[in-house]
Amino acid sequence: MSPALAQKQKIAIIPGDGIGVDVTGEAVKVLELINARGRLELEFIQFDYGAEKYLSTGISLPKQQLEDFRDNYAAIFLGALGDPRIPDMAHARDILFGMRFGLDLFVNFRPVKLFDETLCPLKGKTPNDVNFVVFRENTEGLYVGIGGFFKKGTKDEIAIQESVNTYKGVERIIRYAFTYARQHGHTKVTMSDKNNALRFEGDLWHRVFQQVSEDYPEIEKEHMFVDALAMQLIKRPEQFQVIVTNNMFGDIITDIGAQLQGGLGMAASGNINPNGVCMFEPVHGSAPKYAGRNVANPFGAILTAGLMLEHLGFKKEALLIEQSVCMAVHEKKVTSDMGGSLGTKESGDAVCDFLQHLSGNTLR
Ligand SMILES: NC(=O)c1ccc[n+]([C@@H]2O[C@H](COP(=O)([O-])OP(=O)(O)OC[C@H]3O[C@@H](n4cnc5c(N)ncnc54)[C@H](O)[C@@H]3O)[C@@H](O)[C@H]2O)c1
Repeated sequence: MSPALAQKQKIAIIPGDGIGVDVTGEAVKVLELINARGRLELEFIQFDYGAEKYLSTGISLPKQQLEDFRDNYAAIFLGALGDPRIPDMAHARDILFGMRFGLDLFVNFRPVKLFDETLCPLKGKTPNDVNFVVFRENTEGLYVGIGGFFKKGTKDEIAIQESVNTYKGVERIIRYAFTYARQHGHTKVTMSDKNNALRFEGDLWHRVFQQVSEDYPEIEKEHMFVDALAMQLIKRPEQFQVIVTNNMFGDIITDIGAQLQGGLGMAASGNINPNGVCMFEPVHGSAPKYAGRNVANPFGAILTAGLMLEHLGFKKEALLIEQSVCMAVHEKKVTSDMGGSLGTKESGDAVCDFLQHLSGNTLR
């Protein structure tokens, strides 16, 4: 954490849309508990950016707000975005991509960790077999929005979507993945692309992967085509430690990863700029059909809150959150997507109970 960040203690909370609101409520409950018990002196400030605000005012995420986040906040927590009343996702793109691109959050960090073997859909796989991290490039590729239509709405229509890959962008995400591997005692980094078919971007990713790996001679470098990676994630997930890939492939393979750890409701993520304010969000979307029904699994959001605390330097507190979720999973204090009978709020309460118990003597 940079010295500048250390002085900032404000956390922006954007529940967003759909179940984003439900799960953020539970994540904030956990954060408030740990904040009070551990005297972390974090201040949580809620923002109502999302579909309702957009529909009633036309405002998605103002530029000044982004600057305010950048200059005055230690971190941002986002629930999820997406509403069927806005089918082109205009507000979600403005808010989510506004933060990812506008704050240059080039690392999308998505850990995949199985807490209990009953949650894994693969036969015979245990928590020892499913424990890896994915680094998804977060500011380039097919997501930059460059392209267009020609003869839209006719039978001659052409739609073009460009994939942008810069040396700087590829180098920094690959280097981040190798540095993480070194700092966390991992012995292998797997880079995944599709360079047999996508020759130009694949060539760049390959050359940069080779170059950067030379600075990390103790770490094995492995290349895997993304289709093979998808297969191997199902066949032998235990072979992976650190995966680095582009924006689109990372988006897709982390949904596979989420299933390996018990479903989308369990998956956490961080959008990171190592030199600035970072944004944390569960991997899942707004799942409109579950919104406001007290059924969404809040654990991905709660684990995301843990990632945020870890990033802010509160490692002990982050570990306590992970342990509390793990205990809730083992004790089956979970929502129906994980085979339990609790609601969103009740499973959040269960995590708080375990947290109170575990933190009895350990927090300041
Ligand atoms: N980062 C984001 O905010 C983000 C990410 C993905 C999708 N979306 C948006 O969310 C909306 C819905 O998209 P979708 O249905 O493709 O994806 P989704 O992640 O919202 O839901 C897919 C399915 O996964 C399950 N699921 C997801 N989260 C869950 C949870 N916490 N607890 C229990 N089950 C859970 C549900 O069965 C759900 O129907 C769309 O508008 C989409 O664009 C937003």
